[in-house]
Amino acid sequence: MPVARNKTEDDITAEVLARFAETPDPRLRRIMLALIRHLHAFVKEVELTEAEWFQAIALLTETGRLWCSDKRQEFILFSDTLGVSMVVDLINHRKPEGATESTVFGPFHRQGAPEMPPGGNIAFRDKTAIPALVGGRVLDLDGRPIAGAVLDVWQAQSNGLYDSQDREVEGLHMRGKFRTDAEGRYLVRTVRPVHYPIPADGPVGQMLRATGGHPWRPAHIHFVVSAEGYEPVTTHIFDRADEYLDSDAVFAVKDSLICDFVRHEAADDAEAARLGIAPPFYTARFDFRLKKAASAGAAVLDAQQRLAALGMRAAE
Ligand code: BEZ
Ligand code: FE
Repeated sequence: MPVARNKTEDDITAEVLARFAETPDPRLRRIMLALIRHLHAFVKEVELTEAEWFQAIALLTETGRLWCSDKRQEFILFSDTLGVSMVVDLINHRKPEGATESTVFGPFHRQGAPEMPPGGNIAFRDKTAIPALVGGRVLDLDGRPIAGAVLDVWQAQSNGLYDSQDREVEGLHMRGKFRTDAEGRYLVRTVRPVHYPIPADGPVGQMLRATGGHPWRPAHIHFVVSAEGYEPVTTHIFDRADEYLDSDAVFAVKDSLICDFVRHEAADDAEAARLGIAPPFYTARFDFRLKKAASAGAAVLDAQQRLAALGMRAAE
């Protein structure tokens, strides 16, 4: 068919789609055609001006040149704050009823967290915050305990910074790997999590300010829970009392991941007493439920490996 040279806005969309319709790989074809349709529809819907088009190019260029490094990945932060990361999470981790739901991985995981015994203190530098004991079990979907499951845990310090953001901190802090006992039990000693802002000194912060948003994430603790023969889950637990639960900057809150941090004013908890934790302190209980892996040894694409490929901190 001859190409129409007196192009209308719709002719051009049809012509671009026709050109890419010959893409040999079917998956790439599907992605490219949908991308073109949506991009063209977006530009037409907002009637993008040339100045705005140039502003978008400048923003993407600046983001790549100045805000992506081994310590920062602003494109992922855009994906997080535009809700795209959570849509990808929801599509890729559809779970059976009862299985622990996943949520965003975030940029602050580091490899090499120390193995800790049950009740090990990940907040050993934090002498002023209120202690918290977080414990529970790792179970299968029939409620049977999974022994030897590994919980890779990380959390922001009570000053709202991860260790890697805090110039005062050398090495790893607020990180540990815990293994479940024969009854599937785990116990982490930490401090009560606090809400904190995502990095807002770059283009994402500019976007949030210009659109009347905020950078705050509700108080949470990160977990990757894995066990032989089960699908690992990358998730958080959230503090039910937090004021940002309904407006998480990265849309990562799911009802099933919210739990109560119970305040104790008296020495009324056996585990706390055994560990020498004096009141006041908090306890939180959360059971993780893992789904059997679809096939033996099946590996879920590992977020750490993907970040390492981007040259980020996870590679350390
Ligand atoms: C975090 O929880 O650590 C996080 C997640 C997404 C973006 C920024 C921070
Ligand atoms: Fe976090």
